[in-house]
Amino acid sequence: MIAAAGSGQRLGAGGPKAFVELAGRPLLDWSLDAFRAAESIAEIVVAVPPGQEGSVAERGVVAVEGGQHRSESVAIAAELCSEEILVVHDAARPLVTPELIDAIVERLVSDREAAAVIAAAPVTDTIKRTADGDRVEETLDRAGLWAVQTPQAFRADALRGALSDADSLPDATDDAMLVERQGGRVLIHSAPAENLKVTAPIDLRVAELLLRERA
Ligand code: CTP
Ligand code: MG
Repeated sequence: MIAAAGSGQRLGAGGPKAFVELAGRPLLDWSLDAFRAAESIAEIVVAVPPGQEGSVAERGVVAVEGGQHRSESVAIAAELCSEEILVVHDAARPLVTPELIDAIVERLVSDREAAAVIAAAPVTDTIKRTADGDRVEETLDRAGLWAVQTPQAFRADALRGALSDADSLPDATDDAMLVERQGGRVLIHSAPAENLKVTAPIDLRVAELLLRERA
């Protein structure tokens, strides 16, 4: 499932982020390439902004109108999937590779106790917490901290159970946190920081450079 229904406010490109041009193509298409090439992926469902279902369905995938918040879009897409393992990915991460997708699915298949396996990179900045955005209250121990990414692979029943609590969806910044709350075992798969998220204009410039370098 690819979450592509956001409006891209912080990018400020004047339209939905998934369709902003990146290295000559719409941002969404880079993720679609990776999912099509991944051996572990049988079907692709994309949550899109209202009115974009037709243009995305033309790419040969199932397209559905997303929700108001990210996890609501994922919940809507999940209803259309029949597989036992579901992989959630943000269109905002165009540098995802087929190898990364297959690796997290493989890890989930091989660990029967796990509810989810998620891509993440070790945090390299020192992280502090403030009460008011000004005075530092605490410095976190960086040794145990991970910057979480997508893709995230889930057992379908664990993800559906986590997404069924509608009240928790608006505040969720990823889907794994909803599974964690229900006591599900979530494993980290170490992924390259290069699998970056396009949030602000600078991210688009870096992503463009990296994609052109790959080509
Ligand atoms: N997303 C979604 N449905 C929403 C909101 C977000 O499918 N209602 C998707 C976005 O398309 C993106 C991913 O979730 O691929 C991560 O969200 P984010 O980076 O926050 O993208 P936007 O919400 O589009 O950006 P912004 O928050 O700056 O408006
Ligand atoms: Mg957003």
